[in-house]
Amino acid sequence: MTTIPVGPPSGPSFFEQLGGHETFVRLVDAFYRGVAGDPVLRPMYPEEDLGPAKERLTLFLEQYWGGPTTYSQQRGHPRLRMRHNPFTVNPDARDRWLAHMRVAVDELGLPPLQDETLWNYLERAAFAMVNTFEE
Ligand code: HEM
Repeated sequence: MTTIPVGPPSGPSFFEQLGGHETFVRLVDAFYRGVAGDPVLRPMYPEEDLGPAKERLTLFLEQYWGGPTTYSQQRGHPRLRMRHNPFTVNPDARDRWLAHMRVAVDELGLPPLQDETLWNYLERAAFAMVNTFEE
């Protein structure tokens, strides 16, 4: 008789498989290097220093992939679309965000399956974040 797996997945989380905190820090650092030089995205970030924004994205991604739940402890429910409402996330902003993220994911040099899993999510999330088609 074959057994059908039920219940939550067992084994290491995707967070752990990717290399844990250190990998997410590398990803987000590389991403924000791109944002820092982007004439459309950079002005959207209010703080002089991108440090706090970096921290929030790192914590969110870690939590999403099964790492520590520090993001929600500090920020509550993610409500990401709502939190992006103050910003003009049009297709141009989305494509710039994704271009910097693609460079950052490439820098991690992940095995193809992990790369694809991470990238599929980021791409879907970025498309879902678009809140206007105006310039
Ligand atoms: C599509 C283009 C996107 C643009 C232009 C954009 C822009 C921004 C800006 C300007 C902020 C405020 C900076 C801050 O104070 O933290 C922000 C916050 C944030 N973004 Fe995005 N974002 C985009 C997509 C995404 C995606 C796809 C994700 C998740 C996969 C994401 C996750 C976050 C998180 C977690 C925060 C901090 C929320 C908080 O706790 O306040 N963003 N984003």
